[in-house]
Amino acid sequence: MIKKCLFPAAGYGTRFLPATKAMPKEVMPIVDKPLIQFGVEEALAAGMHEIAMVTGRGKRALEDHFDVSYELEHQISGTDKENRLADIRRLMEECTFSYTRQKEMLGLGHAILTGELLVGAEPFGVILADDLCDGANGEGVMAQLAKIYKKYRCSVVAIEEVPQNEVYKYGVIAGSQIEDGLYMISDMVEKPAPEEAPSNLAIIGRYILTPDIFDILRETPAGKGGELQITDALMLQAKRNMVLAYKFKGERFDCGSMEGFVAATNHYYQRMKDSE
Ligand code: G1P
Repeated sequence: MIKKCLFPAAGYGTRFLPATKAMPKEVMPIVDKPLIQFGVEEALAAGMHEIAMVTGRGKRALEDHFDVSYELEHQISGTDKENRLADIRRLMEECTFSYTRQKEMLGLGHAILTGELLVGAEPFGVILADDLCDGANGEGVMAQLAKIYKKYRCSVVAIEEVPQNEVYKYGVIAGSQIEDGLYMISDMVEKPAPEEAPSNLAIIGRYILTPDIFDILRETPAGKGGELQITDALMLQAKRNMVLAYKFKGERFDCGSMEGFVAATNHYYQRMKDSE
């Protein structure tokens, strides 16, 4: 029902320098698959076929990854290596890809607003590729959010419980539980100090947003770090309408950190071994 998924992918990935000096952080592989491909697979599994990416300078590899590589295809055609491209070929067949550039790094809210051109006036998913999510029971996290959207028709964010001493890394919510694991948001704070956090329920990089968020973003003042924060815009939306938070089922790896990246690598390497 929701066709579009937006991938903010303009960030520099400085935490992984020098790896990210000439290579976008989103194409860093977990075993043999770039982070961004995991994200696009998750979007497609939620029925989102129209992929929109907000990129920036030095991000050409993202576009190339979702395009044909003639020499390579010619080279491996008819060999047993060809099936290594099966998954990416399927994505290329089933999805369309569009790109726009964010010229300045003015925050996640600004990146999402930059994507308005590609998204238009429809509800859409947002995936932050460096939060790598492995859903539960064969259902990806975006598909879980899409189910909730279908029932309530409002913006939905994915959340998970984090230790109190880590809340400062996240947008944190408070709300009343309306179904098992589903909260109606009453408060939201971007990267609070532990003593100011309304709870330990942290937003992870999966959202479904209704398109009125664009007008709200335009009137949202700069927040934490002087940047335009999607968390602040969602708080305004929650006050005017309703925003839900869903404790997703599955596992998340923060691949923006070394620790999470290594944990994800071990997780998917083990899965590969188990399926051999
Ligand atoms: C962003 C959001 C934050 C959210 C996080 C999830 O922060 O601003 O609210 O909790 O993604 O990964 P970033 O990690 O880009 O600093």
